[in-house]
Amino acid sequence: MSKFGHKDLFGMGQLSVSDIKLILDTAESLKEISTRDIKKVPTLRGKSVVNFFYEPSTRTRTSFEMAAKRLSADTVSLSASTSSMVKGETLIDTARNIQAMNPDLIVLRHSSSGAPQLLAREVKAGIINAGDGINEHPTQALLDLFTIREKKGKIEGLKVVITGDISHSRVARSDIIGLTKMGADVTVSGPPTMIPPGIEDFGVQVVHDPAEAVKGKDVVMMLRIQLERQSKALFPGLREYAAFFGLNREVLKQAKKDVIVMHPGPINRGVEITDDVADGPNSVILDQVTNGVAVRMAVMYLLMGGSKE
Ligand code: CP
Repeated sequence: MSKFGHKDLFGMGQLSVSDIKLILDTAESLKEISTRDIKKVPTLRGKSVVNFFYEPSTRTRTSFEMAAKRLSADTVSLSASTSSMVKGETLIDTARNIQAMNPDLIVLRHSSSGAPQLLAREVKAGIINAGDGINEHPTQALLDLFTIREKKGKIEGLKVVITGDISHSRVARSDIIGLTKMGADVTVSGPPTMIPPGIEDFGVQVVHDPAEAVKGKDVVMMLRIQLERQSKALFPGLREYAAFFGLNREVLKQAKKDVIVMHPGPINRGVEITDDVADGPNSVILDQVTNGVAVRMAVMYLLMGGSKE
């Protein structure tokens, strides 16, 4: 029986290889629940989960809510625009008030890096980081690892390229940490203005030319251009970005024949990826979304004291 020794999930940096394997194995066991007629087990009955999203979300928010409900936890969703934040209440005061209602878990998405750790200092409930600024998005990386392992049978030794706005992407950061920990060979690619200096220190190679970067890869992971996080123009325009750095069928031919194409969503269609590739036979983009529910069920279950058995 394996135990998960964490109360909070802030980022991939805190997880050991065995922690990651435990989450992926647990998610594998739990995935089947979502295919049943009655998609519910009593595992977290009596537990309460607050989904606290200060930034927009479709996939993460919905899948956390579905994951909690499939485990029979009670869920409440709160967004910045419908909370008393609009009346000037601070994050800390909001957190203290939520804590006064004694939830078991708080799932937080926030525009500031480090907000989950700040919250954890104020509340007894476990915290799950659902994306903090440009820092981390650990459950996205875990569902990406799960999808790669499911499709390829392993992670170790695979050649993976992550292309796009590496500088502003919390997904890239979490994926780089997770993939390198699990033994993948990781390349990053994109405009030089979107690749942070010193990224090689994270154990990745940098190849700017997208076709060269895709050559011989098992996994091609495209990132969304994060226009909302860029303070100045980092490339001439969306058309130029699509022409030089977008993934299309011609560029994808450089990869291995059985390459899988991933994207965390939301997609800027025709910018970082063409429709025929996003919806094509190599795409596992919707599998990533399906797997997000199982992985988030596993994370909530393990943080609340569950074990693989
Ligand atoms: N991948 C992801 O975080 O998507 P959402 O912003 O829709 O949650």
